[in-house]
Amino acid sequence: MRKAVIAGNWKMNKTIKGAKELIALLKDKVNTDKVEVVFCPTYTALSTAVEELKGTNIKVGAQNMHWEDNGAFTGEISADMLLELGVEYVILGHSERRQYFNETDATVNKKFKKALKAGLIPIVCVGESLGEREADIQKKIVTDQVIAAFNEIEASDAAKSIVAYEPIWAIGTGKTASSEQAEEVCRWVRETLDSLYGTETSQKVRIQYGGSVNASNVDELMGMENIDGALVGGASLKEDFASIVNFGK
Ligand code: PGA
Repeated sequence: MRKAVIAGNWKMNKTIKGAKELIALLKDKVNTDKVEVVFCPTYTALSTAVEELKGTNIKVGAQNMHWEDNGAFTGEISADMLLELGVEYVILGHSERRQYFNETDATVNKKFKKALKAGLIPIVCVGESLGEREADIQKKIVTDQVIAAFNEIEASDAAKSIVAYEPIWAIGTGKTASSEQAEEVCRWVRETLDSLYGTETSQKVRIQYGGSVNASNVDELMGMENIDGALVGGASLKEDFASIVNFGK
């Protein structure tokens, strides 16, 4: 059985003060061992989050990292720097990074390999744009992204990773994919992993859905066979996140 994993992607929101307030609001309500809960604040609030969440089951993740150990990469952060802060997860290849910061399948793959080697748990994002959905090529787009991301990654590492399917047209728009649409693509992701690694490994990989997840749609999404969690943006900055984590109740 795969343990559900629900991560809050805070994006470029919350100062240290704001992070402390949000954590104080949510901490007790989302501290569970039934679901793996991950808070992903900005770099500046990572150590605060680690500190404030000590003694809980809640984990901390970063929103990006560089694939090199160190060097002349102005503005970048390495895996070791994250580990030193107590960070355990890292979101990679989010569509906003692909769209605004020139992330490509190739850089996502380099980051993915590095994160696994360093011992971070990667949350690798894939998903089609509205135009691609309208052209009905979402299966090819997502399958190609998964194949590229997992290039040269071994089965034992693949099994530890998390894939987040986030249709770009559903991010921050209030338009959620229907649970059937979300399940269909998450199933394709698993089938792709199955063809790369076989069933034993593909059954271990956790697949999240992301894109306007909220307290009202989470139960239905989480009821789907191939959806093992959620990557939550907007609703992770509010009390709603507690209802999302406590889905089904
Ligand atoms: P959203 O963002 O929940 O605000 O749609 C999801 C994400 O981008 O991870």
